[in-house]
Amino acid sequence: MEAIVPRIAVIYSTAQGSTREIADFIGASLAARGAKVELADAEHAPDPTRFDAVILGSAVHDRALLPELDDYTRSHRDELRARPVWLFSVGLGPALVGPIGHLIGRAVPKRIAALRDTVTPRDYRAFAGHYERAGVSLSARTLYRLLGGSRYGDLRDWPAITAWIDIIAQELKLPRAQAIPTHP
Ligand SMILES: Cc1cc2nc3c(=O)[nH]c(=O)nc-3n(C[C@H](O)[C@H](O)[C@H](O)COP(=O)(O)O)c2cc1C
Repeated sequence: MEAIVPRIAVIYSTAQGSTREIADFIGASLAARGAKVELADAEHAPDPTRFDAVILGSAVHDRALLPELDDYTRSHRDELRARPVWLFSVGLGPALVGPIGHLIGRAVPKRIAALRDTVTPRDYRAFAGHYERAGVSLSARTLYRLLGGSRYGDLRDWPAITAWIDIIAQELKLPRAQAIPTHP
């Protein structure tokens, strides 16, 4: 008997590209395990009813997901609730270190929690993104340091992202990857 190939949508919203690269890597990793994957930005995303599972991801701006992902999620709320959904965000929280950093960085901002609860995803993960020192004001840099920010640049934790993909793949009962895709 032939295995059923799950159709998975990976829908993202990005301002500067780091979320798109994570979404792309998630999509490529699931496709390498035999899933039929469609990657789309939230503004031009397909209807969730065409898919067996949906992965949603967005950059964090001002303690909320970007409006395009927020709009897509709310306007397809019922279809999303009817199928397995995973949600991720890309921001600075997970990159904060020290006791204060851990406390603040691991807290889920109110608006993100509200959106998460509208679709009750199987799991929600916050990943670290990108933060360039250049162009950031002295006051913003000072605040970042005080909150536990210790590094600038590409803060993405690819092993953490890969581990999350493995969990999703297991829940969807996908076979092992034929080839492991590369990430940026
Ligand atoms: C205008 C602006 C506001 C931001 N606000 C937050 C925030 O409230 N919380 C956070 O964790 N990160 C915040 N960030 C950091 C970004 O979410 C992070 O750099 C992320 O990697 C951006 O993803 P993207 O490259 O897909 O746009 C902000 C970045 C910008 C440019």
